[in-house]
Amino acid sequence: MICNNIGINAKGHLTFAGQDTTELAAQYGTPLYLIDENKIREKMSTYVKAMKENFGENALPLYASKALCFKKIYKIANEEHMGVDAVSPGEIYTALQAGFPMEKVYFHGNNKTDADIEFAIENRIGYFICDNLDELDAIDEIAGKHGIKQKIIFRLTPGIDPHTHVKISTGKVDSKFGIAIETGQAEEAIKIALGKKNIELCGYHCHIGSQTFDIKPFVDGAEIMLKFIAHIKEVLGYEAHILNLGGGMGVKYVESDPEIDYAANIKGIADMMKKRSAELGINMPLVLMEPGRSIVADAGMTLYTVGGTKEIPGYKNYVSIDGGMTDNPRYTLYEAAYTIKLANKADKAPEKEYTVGGRCCESGDLIQEHVMLPTAKKGDILAVMTTGAYNYSMASNYNRIPRPPVVMLKDGESYVAVRRESYADLMLNDL
Ligand code: LLP
Repeated sequence: MICNNIGINAKGHLTFAGQDTTELAAQYGTPLYLIDENKIREKMSTYVKAMKENFGENALPLYASKALCFKKIYKIANEEHMGVDAVSPGEIYTALQAGFPMEKVYFHGNNKTDADIEFAIENRIGYFICDNLDELDAIDEIAGKHGIKQKIIFRLTPGIDPHTHVKISTGKVDSKFGIAIETGQAEEAIKIALGKKNIELCGYHCHIGSQTFDIKPFVDGAEIMLKFIAHIKEVLGYEAHILNLGGGMGVKYVESDPEIDYAANIKGIADMMKKRSAELGINMPLVLMEPGRSIVADAGMTLYTVGGTKEIPGYKNYVSIDGGMTDNPRYTLYEAAYTIKLANKADKAPEKEYTVGGRCCESGDLIQEHVMLPTAKKGDILAVMTTGAYNYSMASNYNRIPRPPVVMLKDGESYVAVRRESYADLMLNDL
């Protein structure tokens, strides 16, 4: 199986976190997001442990909460000693409601409005990951109004191509995020930041992209950042003490994807950084990372009920499900690969190739193509694996389809973390 929390029981049913998925589908209805709480805790503690061991006690992984965001996740992140990367006041508000300590929140985004900045400062957010000079001015002004010196980290683009999908590649020079090192603009920006009265510049950030399997782009990116720290120390006399390396380590979605050893990757980056810092004559910075997908993706599974099936002789076979691009837009957006099974026929051999279609009025509403399954019938439960990241958090109400609930699985028990949206919820803001 694609992950060690998936199995098949004596009834031939698919299990997730040790529980029968067909029973969960019957109990909670479909479509249904399942989240394996222990898997999330295991992944968080892998990062915490590996980072402290390799980078030192103060190193901190920040959970990139855009990957999967609701109150309970922030409570888990706090209990597992993570910080948090938030990209909007909505995420910050959710973290606040969950009692997450604001000093461990790092506020991202390439276009924070003045109102966003005000909201974050009022709530005494730990750090801004400052994207550009307009934002720097706004933070300086608003921090001054509140009588505080705001800690910031500058987001820089190291000019690395991580060879992932173009829509999730972010570290190149022509990115909409951050300030380029290559063009000299980053150096200018640091100079300006150092002159701001209400700003405390703490260091630099880079994020090269998402779903990256190879460790090389991370190592190369970190090295470019270290060289930049050394360069700025030399020309401006300022030595950054924080280096945030972003997120982006990949996840195994299908059998052909490689298995990733996150702790070994962290060690690889740390080994290079220790060596290069010494060679460059700078102190080893305090290291932050921002894993999202690699924390939550394989903690998730989505269950659907099969409705119609359609065989078009000489063309293809369709199986239609009661969800689709509204709960998982990733195939529509990125042609993202997923492993799919029929949960009630998990022990049966695949017989036919299917296109899995969603229920939206839109031909592009597909979850996957070329999927081999046992013959599908109305009422079967179709399971899509590894949906913990960027599924619930990217869900929409297109076609006025209510979002599915999020049910957490833990130690043989299950509980609702986010309830199913009702039709009335859909009209909450309609006047
Ligand atoms: N840090 C920054 C600054 C980011 O922009 C991202 C992701 C992360 C951390 C977390 O990256 P991760 O560890 O999850 O790869 N919706 C797309 C992914 C977009 C990623 C956006 N930024 C998808 O479904 O694949």
